Amino acid sequence: MADTTGGIEAFYLENRSFSPPDSVKSDAWITGSEEYEQAERDWQGYWARQAGDLLDWSKEWETILEWDRPFAKWFVGGELNVSFNCVDRHVASGLGGRVAYHWVGEPGDTRTITYADLLADVERFANVLKGYGVGKGDRVAIYMPMIPELPVAMLACTRIGAVHSVVFGGFSSDALRDRINDAEAKVLVTADGGYRKGKANLLKPAVDLALAACPSITDVVVARRVGHAPSGSEERTVDMTDGRDHWWDSAMESVEASCPPEAMGSEDLLYLLYTSGTTAKPKGIMHTTGGYLTQVAFTHKYVFDLHAERDVYWCAADIGWVTGHSYIVYGPLANGATSVLYEGAPDHPDKDRWWQIVEDYKVSILYCAPTAIRACMKWGTSYPESHDLSSLRILGSVGEPINPEAWIWYQTTIGGGRCPVVDTWWQTETGAIMISPLPGATTTKPGSATFPLPGISAQVVDESGSPVSVGGGYLTIDRPWPSMLRGIYKDPERYQETYWSRFEGRYFAGDGAKLDDDGYFWLLGRVDDVMNVSGHRVSTTEVESALVDHQSVAEAAVVGASDPVTGQAIVAFVTLKSAFTPDQDHGEALRSFVADRIGKFGRPKTIIFTDDLPKTRSGKIMRRLLRDVAEGRDLGDTTTLADPGVVEEIRARASVSPTEE
Ligand code: WT7
Repeated sequence: MADTTGGIEAFYLENRSFSPPDSVKSDAWITGSEEYEQAERDWQGYWARQAGDLLDWSKEWETILEWDRPFAKWFVGGELNVSFNCVDRHVASGLGGRVAYHWVGEPGDTRTITYADLLADVERFANVLKGYGVGKGDRVAIYMPMIPELPVAMLACTRIGAVHSVVFGGFSSDALRDRINDAEAKVLVTADGGYRKGKANLLKPAVDLALAACPSITDVVVARRVGHAPSGSEERTVDMTDGRDHWWDSAMESVEASCPPEAMGSEDLLYLLYTSGTTAKPKGIMHTTGGYLTQVAFTHKYVFDLHAERDVYWCAADIGWVTGHSYIVYGPLANGATSVLYEGAPDHPDKDRWWQIVEDYKVSILYCAPTAIRACMKWGTSYPESHDLSSLRILGSVGEPINPEAWIWYQTTIGGGRCPVVDTWWQTETGAIMISPLPGATTTKPGSATFPLPGISAQVVDESGSPVSVGGGYLTIDRPWPSMLRGIYKDPERYQETYWSRFEGRYFAGDGAKLDDDGYFWLLGRVDDVMNVSGHRVSTTEVESALVDHQSVAEAAVVGASDPVTGQAIVAFVTLKSAFTPDQDHGEALRSFVADRIGKFGRPKTIIFTDDLPKTRSGKIMRRLLRDVAEGRDLGDTTTLADPGVVEEIRARASVSPTEE
C-alpha cells in the first residue's frame, strides 16, 4: 500500500498556500487586509455599518454598544422585525418570485417555496399562534423534522415577538419535556413525524409522552408529514387530544391572511436554544434580535461570498441545531438567498444522494460537517464522481476540527480543485461564525480555520490567561461581538461562571487551539467535559447521569474517544450493582436507556463494564486515563466488553499516576 502520510504531506506542502483562481475571487472585498485593518481601527463602527447596510430598521439605534461585562447590549434603542427583514422586504423589492427554499423530502417528493409563498405562510401561522394567546415574549417550543413548516413556525414567532425554542427532532421525549418546562413554553409546534433512512420516524408519540408532564403547554399544532399518506395508500393514525391538539392545515385555513410585523427592540429575546454544558442540566442559550441578525447576515454573505441573485446555497445541517438556525434560516433569508432544504439522510436511497441534489439544483455553495465528509470519503469517490458537481464554487465546513486529509479530499474530489474551502469555527453561544477564511481573500492551510473575521478579536492564552503568539493554549475572545449569547435563560450566575470566570476579562470558548508561525488558528477540540460526536455536542456528565439513573448502575464514567468518522465516539465505563450481570444484553439495555433519556445521538457506542473506576484521592474520576484506555482498544459498534483485562489495565495505569487530573 502506498504511503498515504507522505502523499498527504506532499500535497499539504504544495497546497499550503491554496488560493482560489481569479474566477472565483470575491468582488466584495477590496483586499483582505484593508478590510481587517479598517474593522480593527473602529470595531464598533464597523459592526454598526454592517447593521445599517445589511438590515432594515424601523427605528435607528441610539448607542452601538453598552458593555457591562459580561453583559452586552448592541444597537440599543433600535427597532426591527426579523421576519420583515427575512421575508417582507424581499417581496416588497420585487423578489417575491425568487425561490427561498428548494425543499427535498427524503422519499423524493419536492416543494418549491418562493419568498411570496413564505410570506403568506408566515403571516397566517403568526395569526394561528396569536389565536392561542401567544404574544410578545411568550415562549413557543418547536419539535419538527426538516420540513418547510419548521422555518415558517420560527419566522411566525419572530413576527409577533414570541421567543422560539427549537428542540432537535432527534431528542427523546424526556429531553423535550425538560426543555419545554425550563422555558415554560405556552404552545408546541410539531409534526406527526418525518422521514429518515427510508423510515417514517414518528414524533407525535414522543410529544404525547412529554406533554404528560408539561403544565405550561395549552395548545399543540401538528403538521402533517407522515400521517396523511397519499390517497390510495395506507393511513397512519395519529392520536390527537381534543381541545389541545390542532392540525396545521386546518388551523391555517381558519385564520386571516395578513399579520403585520411587530417592531421589536434590538435587545428583545429572539430565541432560546438548549445546549449541553459540563453539568447534566442543559443550558438555555439566549440570543437577541438586532446584533444576532446583523452578524448572521454579515457572515453568511461574506464567508460564503454570496451572490444571492445567482447562487444556490445548501447548508446540510438540521435546523434543530444552531447551524440550521443561523445558516439555514436567518442568515440566508436575511440575504434573500435561494437555499436547498433537505429532509433526510445522505445515504438514502443511495450514498450519492447529496451529489444528486447538488447536480439537480446546481448548488454553488455547500456547507456541511467534517463527519459527513469523512463518511463520504469512506464510501468512495465513485459516488461524487458519477455526478456533475461543476456548479460548486465554495465549500464550507463546520462543527469540529477538519483533519487535513478530509479538507484535501473535500477540496479536490468534491470541489474539483477550484473551490475554496472555508473552515468556520463558532458555537451555539457565539451565534455566528467567528473564525474563518474569506474565500478569495485568505490564503488557506488545510485543517486551519485561519483567522478571526474582521471585527472579531480572539486570542489563544496560556494557563494563566496570557496571550501566546505561537503555540498551544485556550481559545478566548476579549471583546463583545454582535451575535454573542446574552446569557443562560434564568441563570445569569451560570453564564458568568461558565464563560467569563476562567480567564480575567475574557470569554472562554471551551476549546483548545494553537497558533502557528504565521499566526493561523488551528482548533484542537474541547478541553472541558463536552464531547463532539458527528458535530453534535454531548456532555459526558449528561450521559453519566442518565446511566446512573438506571437501577442496575452503581457508577459510570463517560469519555469521548477519538473516532475516524464521527470525530469522537461515546464510551461509557460502567460498574454494576452486585445483583446484576455485566453481559451483552445488559449493555444493550443500558444503551437504549440512554437513548430514551437523551436521544439516539447521545447513546454510547461502547459500554465497558469494570469492577471499579480510577479516581484521584479527592474522588474525581480520572477521565483522561479512561480515554487512553478507550482509545487503545478496538471498539466495536455495539460490543459490550466485560473484560477483566480492562480493569487491570486501568489499575496498572492508575497506580502510575494516582493524582492525575
Ligand atoms: C463546538 C461548538 C457551530 C455550529 C456547530 C456546533 C466545535 C465548531 C468548529 C471548527 C473546530 C469546531 C468546537 C466548539 N467546532 N466548529 N470549524 N473547527 N471545532 O455548535 O454544538 O455549539 O459546538 O464545536 O469545539 O466549541 P456547538
